[in-house]
Amino acid sequence: MKVLITGGAGYIGSHTAVELIEAGCRIVIADNFSNSSLVAVKRIRSITETEVPCYFADLRREETVTRIFRNERPDAVIHFAGLKAVGESNEHPVAYYDHNLGSMIQILKAMRTYNCRNLVYSSSATVYGGEAEMPVMEDAALQTTNPYGRTKKMIEEMLMDTSGAYPEMCITALRYFNPIGAHRSGLIGEDPLGIPNNIAPFITQVAAGRRGYLQIFGNDYETADGTGIRDYVHVTDLAKGHIAAINKGAGRNGYHVYNLGTGYGTSVLELVHMFRLVSGKRIPYVITPRRPGDAAVSFADTSKAERELGWKAELSLEDMCRDSWNWQQKNPAGYRSEMIMEVETL
Ligand code: NAD
Ligand code: UD1
Repeated sequence: MKVLITGGAGYIGSHTAVELIEAGCRIVIADNFSNSSLVAVKRIRSITETEVPCYFADLRREETVTRIFRNERPDAVIHFAGLKAVGESNEHPVAYYDHNLGSMIQILKAMRTYNCRNLVYSSSATVYGGEAEMPVMEDAALQTTNPYGRTKKMIEEMLMDTSGAYPEMCITALRYFNPIGAHRSGLIGEDPLGIPNNIAPFITQVAAGRRGYLQIFGNDYETADGTGIRDYVHVTDLAKGHIAAINKGAGRNGYHVYNLGTGYGTSVLELVHMFRLVSGKRIPYVITPRRPGDAAVSFADTSKAERELGWKAELSLEDMCRDSWNWQQKNPAGYRSEMIMEVETL
């Protein structure tokens, strides 16, 4: 199977690229590198010892997407490309609708033209909003609170309509919970530009001394220690979930949605303690008011993915923290110091 990975230089895309190659697939990456580095592609090549074709491409452009499909004729697509920062989406909503919906529309058009029938899409637990009962199942009501979340929900609706009109396609939306960690080699990992929004890269940077302290957003939630609870899932487990979905998609049709998480909730303080344990470093923190829009508790019911895809997260919170820390130590400034490699420019 040949799989087009859009956003394949990004955090989740790069880990999925490695797992796909190791599962025997051929891959091609398309990315505009707006939130990623060419070095990630080079590292994918060195982990897998495989040539990885890569297009420097803005997937909102119809002629660009058409050219990739015409050249590559993929059997399947995993669509990661898009913008993902909640705060930024409140400031620049039009950019979020443009990149997220725009790239999805071009991919769907090209899939129709080139008879590519198997699509896996990166959705998010953010579509459940903050009020759902936990553990949350896939049939819970969807409720979004910001433009980023709305692009995820709108794209799911777009995919449902597309599947209804073209029943020969198989479209799978995967709702990720909180991916953290890095490849065990320490060669690829999460490399946020600027100040990290999400907690795991922030903690690793505090442990490494790049930032003075962590702000814990609220300790007055109705949870055991008062801090927010999330379902952290190792990015390698998450990547393997895509292999399960793409393989399943090759043999069926229709529209399918799955939660990808561990099914367990961890509080902010528990996460901080685990990082301290694996790194042996102090992680100073201060308690600040709650971050607006944050849910108290979010964790997945993963039984549908287990039953239908045969997928279950296997790595522990300790694995996640150890691998994040290994990545941070081996790449103190992320990918930035590495040399640039050749890519085909569209
Ligand atoms: P990321 O930013 O690391 O990867 C996204 C990639 O898409 C980047 O490499 C970026 O350069 C590329 N991109 C953006 N706009 C593009 C465009 N117009 N054309 C081509 N490439 C473009 O993010 P990630 O964490 O790997 O997330 C991947 C997907 O998973 C996103 O759709 C995100 O919304 C979704 N998701 C992520 C999380 C998370 O916590 N990381 C949680 C839920 C869902
Ligand atoms: C955030 C996004 C969500 C997105 C997800 C993955 C918001 C409101 N939600 O979710 O839409 O799908 O990232 O990209 O931004 N925390 C701190 N200090 C920090 C950072 C976070 O205490 O510096 C806490 C948060 O309050 C939360 C937990 O850590 O309880 C996890 O936060 P984060 O990593 O930002 O993920 P989410 O809030 O789950």
